[in-house]
Amino acid sequence: MNTKIKSEMLREMCAMFSSLNINYTDRSDVIEAYNNWAEIGYDKVYSSDVFYAPKKTAEVLEDLYPLEGDKKGVKILDVGAGTGLCGVELRKLGFRNIDGLEPSEKMMTEAMKKNVYDRYIIEFITEARLSIPDNFYDVVTACSCARHFPDGFPEIARIVRPGGVLVILSNYDAVDMEMETMVQKLEDEGVWRIVRKEIIDEFFSIANQRGILILIEVLTDGRKLQDQRV
Ligand SMILES: C[S@@+](CC[C@H](N)C(=O)[O-])C[C@H]1O[C@@H](n2cnc3c(N)ncnc32)[C@H](O)[C@@H]1O
Repeated sequence: MNTKIKSEMLREMCAMFSSLNINYTDRSDVIEAYNNWAEIGYDKVYSSDVFYAPKKTAEVLEDLYPLEGDKKGVKILDVGAGTGLCGVELRKLGFRNIDGLEPSEKMMTEAMKKNVYDRYIIEFITEARLSIPDNFYDVVTACSCARHFPDGFPEIARIVRPGGVLVILSNYDAVDMEMETMVQKLEDEGVWRIVRKEIIDEFFSIANQRGILILIEVLTDGRKLQDQRV
């Protein structure tokens, strides 16, 4: 599909979503929106020749885990996994131990077709406790989705082991204060530390979007975080 047709499809999708008048803090609205994206053909527009974010996210992890043996062992949760684009890129680079978490069943059905995740977790990230144990993952990736759940960042910190990392790559122009504020708040509280934060040009070219990359190291034991919340 050429870029012109993709741009037109993207415009149509955006128009359709505007007409839905989505409230992104309302779970049923989010599900409806992303179920629609999946049906219309998310992957046709967000293909790797124009949507670089999943590849970039995977490359950040490759820098951290350059050895083949480490890549196979590192336990990754891809949150807001959508149709599995980030899982595909992680697998291309040799990562093998990857679960996906996604609230939209139709997006997840597309991901399942790609067979890139070991476990498919159909859940929303919110401030409520996820079904995942403390310190369970070495890495969480959040590609083009973190602005949906800044209130759930403490919960992400709980499920990543101390010394593990969270990679956030988001549309820079759509990032709201709430996301940045929560990242900073958890750094101020000593829950995690920001290792890298930069604006990148390669994000989603046909929409002229830049990305913001935030690499975070979790410092606190998830069991303590849980105690703090009780
Ligand atoms: C723009 S898509 C990105 C999908 C995928 N990461 C990618 O790069 O193609 C955003 C995804 O975040 C998911 N999402 C929305 N709210 C969420 C929440 N509270 N917790 C987890 N995922 C959420 C949506 O269902 C959607 O699949």
